[in-house]
Amino acid sequence: MSNWIDAEVIENIHWTDTLYSLKVKGDIGDYEAGQFGRLGLMIDDQIVGRPYSFVSAPHEDYCEFYSIVVEKGLLSPPLAKLKAGDHIYLGKKANGFLILNEIPESDDLWMISTGTGIGPFLSILKTETPWKRFKKCVLVHAVRTAPELTYQELINEFKQQHPDQFEYAPFVSREKTDFALPDRIPKALKKGKLEDRVNLKIESGKSQIMLCGNPDMVKDVRETLEKRGLTKNLRKTPGSISTENYW
Ligand SMILES: Cc1cc2nc3c(=O)[nH]c(=O)nc-3n(C[C@H](O)[C@H](O)[C@H](O)COP(=O)(O)OP(=O)(O)OC[C@H]3O[C@@H](n4cnc5c(N)ncnc54)[C@H](O)[C@@H]3O)c2cc1C
Ligand SMILES: NC(=O)c1ccc[n+]([C@@H]2O[C@H](COP(=O)([O-])OP(=O)(O)OC[C@H]3O[C@@H](n4cnc5c(N)ncnc54)[C@H](OP(=O)(O)O)[C@@H]3O)[C@@H](O)[C@H]2O)c1
Repeated sequence: MSNWIDAEVIENIHWTDTLYSLKVKGDIGDYEAGQFGRLGLMIDDQIVGRPYSFVSAPHEDYCEFYSIVVEKGLLSPPLAKLKAGDHIYLGKKANGFLILNEIPESDDLWMISTGTGIGPFLSILKTETPWKRFKKCVLVHAVRTAPELTYQELINEFKQQHPDQFEYAPFVSREKTDFALPDRIPKALKKGKLEDRVNLKIESGKSQIMLCGNPDMVKDVRETLEKRGLTKNLRKTPGSISTENYW
């Protein structure tokens, strides 16, 4: 039996030359905010599929995915060229543990991402759960250049709806801006600049940290936080750091 269902692209939003979001209609089953599905295209007589996190939330009547064109990649370049009305395959089943059901109780939730790794956190923030469970929800997004700080309209909505509960900390590493933190997340964490920016301390027992995107960022942040006494969150041994690597 096929693991794929037929679906239709309803919109392809081009944010920059390399960043795009696909909105797709298809009859997939249930998923949880933070999980990933699969997108596929027929290439040389076979379906080539890759995992992509849902940016949409389960209550929305379409699926949305946020992707970068990987140079010489097999799937992401043709995905970027799709237009409304085009056919696409959607994986039947969603997967992944970067979900709030896996996160122990705490005061604060830190969602730390690079590049397209912001996707699952936008999905989570669209649901009611984080706002009910946590005193503070902090969204950290690191990109190379300012135009890659996408989804500003949605992020502003979170800020308007939850002015005292939501903090957004953008990083831009390869150009100077007057609004974003410079350099990389681990360096800012080590120097206390990230916590200064949002006026909140990361503390074991009080903070839950979710990391998503570039595996080197995930590793560097995890090691930095482990030196401060935080531990990886596992079902057998609950801790404070939950991760998802995109490659
Ligand atoms: C659990 C999971 C969820 C994912 N969710 C997303 C998502 O929401 N959005 C997204 O853009 N990608 C996501 N990815 C990556 C995605 O599945 C593909 O690997 C990516 O689109 C490249 O596919 P490709 O066929 O074009 O490249 P391939 O020919 O498969 O080349 C893969 C190589 O491209 C690089 N690469 C892969 N993904 C990225 C990326 N996101 N950013 C930078 N470099 C990358 C790495 O060097 C990797 O080895 C996810 C991966 C995993 C494992
Ligand atoms: N962004 C683009 O314009 C672009 C264009 C074409 C192709 N691509 C390809 O697409 C892929 C993803 O690009 P991307 O820009 O989304 O993601 P990225 O390369 O992971 O960069 C996103 C952010 O993560 C930072 N970062 C990188 N390594 C880190 C580490 N070890 N610890 C902490 N932070 C780290 C980067 O800082 P630094 O700037 O200091 O590295 C940048 O601020 C790459 O394979 C890239 O080659 C990107």
